[in-house]
Amino acid sequence: IVPEGTTMEGAFLVADDIMDASETRRGQACWYKHPDEQLNAINDGILLESHIYTILKRHCGSSPLYIHLLELFHETTLQTALGQYLDLATAEPDRVDFGRFSMRTYSNIVIYKTAFYTFYLPVALAMRIAGITDEALYATARRICIMMGEYFQVQDDFLDCYGDPAVIGKVGTDIYDNKCSWLINTALPLCDARQRGVLEANYARHDPVCEARVKAVYDELKLRERFHAYEEATYKELNELIASVRGMPPTIFTNLLKRIYKRKK
Ligand code: IPE
Ligand code: MN
Ligand code: MN
Repeated sequence: IVPEGTTMEGAFLVADDIMDASETRRGQACWYKHPDEQLNAINDGILLESHIYTILKRHCGSSPLYIHLLELFHETTLQTALGQYLDLATAEPDRVDFGRFSMRTYSNIVIYKTAFYTFYLPVALAMRIAGITDEALYATARRICIMMGEYFQVQDDFLDCYGDPAVIGKVGTDIYDNKCSWLINTALPLCDARQRGVLEANYARHDPVCEARVKAVYDELKLRERFHAYEEATYKELNELIASVRGMPPTIFTNLLKRIYKRKK
């Protein structure tokens, strides 16, 4: 069980980097940036996805669990693609309309685009393989994984702006791409008229000077400090939620949480 590096993630990220016009991933040029690949990368993403089912059939095809595992992958693919749809639909290129953004919309985007495939999928797969059939336990796992996944994507958004590209292996694109990110949604209700004007004039421009102006407003609004406060509060809340789990070992959740708490990449 890993919160990164799965075949499904690989498939989605190959396409995500095209859609987000990203330059680097895991310390290398994005796959579509390779001169021999370009938009052939679309098909490579589909190939990666197909391999999920080849591998699953090879190893689990004759198991009575096969149908459950298969359904989990299908359901998660739909959820993630819907999340990507919401992410792209709120981030129309080159047109700033902060009226589209809100923390509620943000939550929906990140639960769908990130939480299901990164957390619920591996946990639910492990639960199936462990022989758990009580649907109430899957509902509990889902609640915890959704909260953990939202936290994980808030970290991704924070690192997009404040992370070290040499450490995170990618260069942030959220401001250029007009993304409905945690930072802009935290900033908007806090800023005064001047700051809002600066954000409106400089968000979603493919220009490093404009990006720096947006980041300067983020700094004025103390978004680093606000992120750290969010991280502490969410970590505490998650630990409390995990401590209340009955009927399965909490370590599946605490181990995942340990891996992401205060992550720098
Ligand atoms: C990617 O979200 C989510 C999926 C690939 C499903 P982001 O676009 O925010 O992730 P990064 O920052 O490019 O890794
Ligand atoms: Mn991206
Ligand atoms: Mn991102």
